[in-house]
Amino acid sequence: MAEDLQLIVSDDKEEKYSSLFPQIKALVEGEKDLIANMANIASALKFGMGFYWVGFYIIKHGELVLGPFQGPPACTRIQKGKGVCGTSWEKKEIILVQDVDSFPGHIACSSASKSEIVLPKIEKGVIEWILDVDSDQLSAFDEIDQRYLTQIIQLI
Ligand code: SME
Repeated sequence: MAEDLQLIVSDDKEEKYSSLFPQIKALVEGEKDLIANMANIASALKFGMGFYWVGFYIIKHGELVLGPFQGPPACTRIQKGKGVCGTSWEKKEIILVQDVDSFPGHIACSSASKSEIVLPKIEKGVIEWILDVDSDQLSAFDEIDQRYLTQIIQLI
């Protein structure tokens, strides 16, 4: 059974992630349902880290389709190569965008989003889904987010 998240109030991102990571691990451990695990991870990251929007896009019939998320409503479908998410899928790369206005083709689901990180989940060379995290602050993401979010997507 899920317990309340132990949220720590700190300006130190590393400290927040290191407290949150074992809690996320415990939340998804023993549960095989991908959608349920995505839903809990989106919630834990949104409330634990204070991000503006956290969600998953799942590849279905050759396009990215919105999956579990926390935050304001978002674009439902994204084509390969389009926006930050579609580019991450096409290039099979993590993409960090410090200022979304400077990313050509960025898809603005919300005008409040200022920076973004997208991580593709690659299993045996194949991408099945991506994690997208948005901040309402410029340059919110760095190597620390990349490191922890990479570990988090490996949990499911
Ligand atoms: N900004 C993304 C679209 C998804 S929303 O941010 C939730 C993109 O450019 O792919």
